[in-house]
Amino acid sequence: MTNDTDNLAIDALGVAARQVEEKLLKLLPKAVDLEQQVIDAMEYALMAGGKRVRPFLVMEGARIFGVSENSALRVAAAVECAHTYSLIHDDLPCMDDDDMRRGQPSVHKKFDEATAVLAGDALLTLAFEILSDDSTHSDARVRCELINYLSKSLGVNGMVGGQMFDLLAENQELDKIRITRLQRMKTGALIVFSGKAGAILGKAEERRRQAIKGYAHDIGLAFQIVDDLLDEEGSSEDIGKTAGKDAAAGKATLVSLVGIEQARTMAEMLTNQAVQHLELFGDKAENLRNLAKFIINRAS
Ligand code: IPE
Ligand code: IPE
Ligand code: MG
Ligand code: MG
Ligand code: MG
Repeated sequence: MTNDTDNLAIDALGVAARQVEEKLLKLLPKAVDLEQQVIDAMEYALMAGGKRVRPFLVMEGARIFGVSENSALRVAAAVECAHTYSLIHDDLPCMDDDDMRRGQPSVHKKFDEATAVLAGDALLTLAFEILSDDSTHSDARVRCELINYLSKSLGVNGMVGGQMFDLLAENQELDKIRITRLQRMKTGALIVFSGKAGAILGKAEERRRQAIKGYAHDIGLAFQIVDDLLDEEGSSEDIGKTAGKDAAAGKATLVSLVGIEQARTMAEMLTNQAVQHLELFGDKAENLRNLAKFIINRAS
């Protein structure tokens, strides 16, 4: 992070992050008996300090479409629950087998595998509980649309399908088209949901929905390419997870296929293309433009 634009993005991201964290704490369920352990694990994973990029996307989209802060924060919290579930399961020994997440022991290390599976499950169901609640939006059709879209983004044609693909592709040589599809599914789909959520909440017209979707589609893929670059080039300390794991596991990534330089060029092209979709939002989309720069320049 070197220039003012990047710092602005970080400031705005930090403000949204604190707001969402406060909301998440309020939304965490209460226990009466031994089930407390799964809530402790959910809180541990949620509060370990992620970048909160997806909640920020929700909040910024909601701002552009004139949505109330309460609705935006609830959807942002739901997205972060769903994302955190995907991370907990991604780290399990049967998946990527990573002992470190967000700079701390992964949930299965801090607790145990069963608790990690259950904490993931409970975060996923909590996401839908939050979205379906009356206080998320007064119009039940809007709540249903969010639930339907999040389900698709996380399911077999989204994150889960992408994760299956990712695991089966280990030590296989995929071409660029298949790697791109895998990454759009495992990571891009939830980022697209996050970008579009504000437009759904604000009942935006189709042209504006498509514009923010186009932006999120491009930054979604760029985000995973940069994640792969950081895995290759970053330190475990900086990224808060074990560096160098992708090459060790034989993951099919654009970095492994075309090398660091070309992968970075692709990520840069995608972020440049992403901001072009924002033209019709004018100055209101300044934070989203800065987010695109943050994604490409981030060190963690
Ligand atoms: C990591 O996501 C997993 C991917 C989908 C690449 P983030 O880089 O957003 O992780 P946190 O939320 O900041 O920890
Ligand atoms: C994970 O991709 C994407 C998810 C759906 C969680 P990675 O396996 O590369 O994510 P990290 O590097 O462990 O965060
Ligand atoms: Mg993985
Ligand atoms: Mg992983
Ligand atoms: Mg990774």
